[in-house]
Amino acid sequence: MNKNIKDEFPFFLNNKEVTYLDSAASSLKLNSVIKRLTDYYVNNGTNIHRGVYKLSHEATEAFEATRVNVAKLINSKTEEVIFTKGTTDSLNKLAFSLSSLINEGDEIITSELEHHSSLLPWQEIARLKNAKLVYVPLNDEGRITVDNFKKVINNNTKIVALTHVSNALGFLTPIKEIVKEVRKYNAYVILDAAQSISHMKIDVKDLDIDFLAFSAHKMYGPNGVGVLYGKDHLLRKIPPFEFGGEMAHLVNKDISTYKDIPHKFEAGTPVIGEVIAFNEAVLFFLNNDMEKHYKNELLLKEYLVNELLKIDDIIIYNKTAESPIITLNIKDIHPHDAASILDEYNVYVRAGHHCAQLVNKHLEVVSTLRVSIGIYNNKEDVERFVFAIKKAIEFFKQFG
Ligand SMILES: Cc1ncc(COP(=O)(O)O)c(C=O)c1O
Repeated sequence: MNKNIKDEFPFFLNNKEVTYLDSAASSLKLNSVIKRLTDYYVNNGTNIHRGVYKLSHEATEAFEATRVNVAKLINSKTEEVIFTKGTTDSLNKLAFSLSSLINEGDEIITSELEHHSSLLPWQEIARLKNAKLVYVPLNDEGRITVDNFKKVINNNTKIVALTHVSNALGFLTPIKEIVKEVRKYNAYVILDAAQSISHMKIDVKDLDIDFLAFSAHKMYGPNGVGVLYGKDHLLRKIPPFEFGGEMAHLVNKDISTYKDIPHKFEAGTPVIGEVIAFNEAVLFFLNNDMEKHYKNELLLKEYLVNELLKIDDIIIYNKTAESPIITLNIKDIHPHDAASILDEYNVYVRAGHHCAQLVNKHLEVVSTLRVSIGIYNNKEDVERFVFAIKKAIEFFKQFG
């Protein structure tokens, strides 16, 4: 399994010595994506939805084909897929648009596991609207549970904004069961799928979530592209995020009307080539057995956890995570120092708070080391990491 998968990623041709274990930050890019991106810039480069000439038509068709395939991937309607700049952009735009439905005293449920992009927009809206930000208490392991969720939802809850998979701990939120609870009240569910989309099948109808956000750059696709999914009737209900070219229907001196979804939400010229190239990544997901790849990633994670358990002084915070993210610390060694030594061995991991500072507060640590496994990683990569971490420990031990 996964024998030649590295061949599909030119990164490895040009960085043969590198062990890349930071896919949760950004995945590497598929060759097909790079080729399609280059092809657009070399052979086309025109704008979409406006030109009456052939190349503009071609670009428009290619752009819209990505929307069709994203909808297939998440089991939505095509018009429910909005292109943005990334998860952060999707979540911010949505929060500010939904804020038109939020009144003083309303409650917004979030969690300490959130990436800042799922937390800070709501913190700001709570402040602006005099609404209350409510945190689902995490269990001892640091997870969101249905039982704890039930403790915080009530008739004042308007928004439930949660991560699907925590980028800092890799824990999976039981979102389907949570949504069933939410449906007993009158609230909207927003799911941050930035970390789950590249590993797990997401079916928006099955999960019955109202909104979903994710980024192409974590799906072996290009930077600068994000998706915001919303149920069609909700997208029709909320106001546009931005106003300008391409989103207006009839413009008058005093009041104007806007296009139907999704175009109502896509003002201005988008990142055309990147959206077109993203289609190649989406096709990769549609045409490959992603479940098999996910299982393989989890096997590598298990192997790594078992190897790390054999090493003294390593603290693992998320042995049972459902995604291939391993978060750890080495006793008495700062994660940034450890990461610098790993870098000397060309092993790339992330050190810090991973834009989820409340997680570190919960763990009562300043910072952690995060290893994240992608589709292209294999046993050799894990072994190289284990070797390098042993070297890091050896190095720092000599100074006592
Ligand atoms: C769980 C989660 N949410 C949101 C984001 C933000 O994604 P982006 O930086 O692509 O906007 C990230 C990125 O690391 C993430 O891991």
